[in-house]
Amino acid sequence: MKSIDLKNLTALQVMQDAPVIPVIVLNDVAHAVPLARALVAGGIRMLEVTLRTPQALACIEAIAKEVPEAVIGAGTVRSAADAQAASKAGALFAVSPGYTKAVGKACRDSGLPLLPGVATGSEIMMAQEDGFTELKFFPAMQAGGSALLKAWSGPFFDINFCPTGGLTLTNAPDFLALPNVKCVGGSWLTPADAMACGDWARITQLATEASQLKR
Ligand code: 3PG
Repeated sequence: MKSIDLKNLTALQVMQDAPVIPVIVLNDVAHAVPLARALVAGGIRMLEVTLRTPQALACIEAIAKEVPEAVIGAGTVRSAADAQAASKAGALFAVSPGYTKAVGKACRDSGLPLLPGVATGSEIMMAQEDGFTELKFFPAMQAGGSALLKAWSGPFFDINFCPTGGLTLTNAPDFLALPNVKCVGGSWLTPADAMACGDWARITQLATEASQLKR
């Protein structure tokens, strides 16, 4: 993997590093480090740990400290407080399911590159007004899939998207073939049953397949 200057990390670099950003839900802090190592072993180092469980910040902290080859990010960032807590825990980028000015400002103030979530043209315009041009398209399958992204490539020709929500190894290629898609996001790399039984080899296998997707 290419070396990366983490002090000057940009949202575009977060998107371009690998074809897939894993969307991770962790319920057990003990899983955080082996999971991150398993994903890195499969060629995926941009990791989005979602702030959806009480353990999420501790998991981010553990990965930030113990897995320096990973680039840890926080997902499900919905408030300024979330952004600040994620940054304090060691997150290096943020992903949000929607966009507000407060989240945008808090991420800027904390030095966190942000992929704001959008699902409509107006939301794209609001995020772009505040300087964000690398956006998460969420929920991708439910909101219009690759057909909507194709339609957006006209008016929003200068925006890069990471579609997330309903993506799998099977449908990811439809999205990755689009010029306005730099990567996709998805939870399929980290199945709850594999994590529960510590099947890290399976997760490395899923990451290896995902890292080999063409774009
Ligand atoms: C997200 O937060 O980005 C989605 O919950 C991930 O969607 P998926 O579970 O359908 O991959």
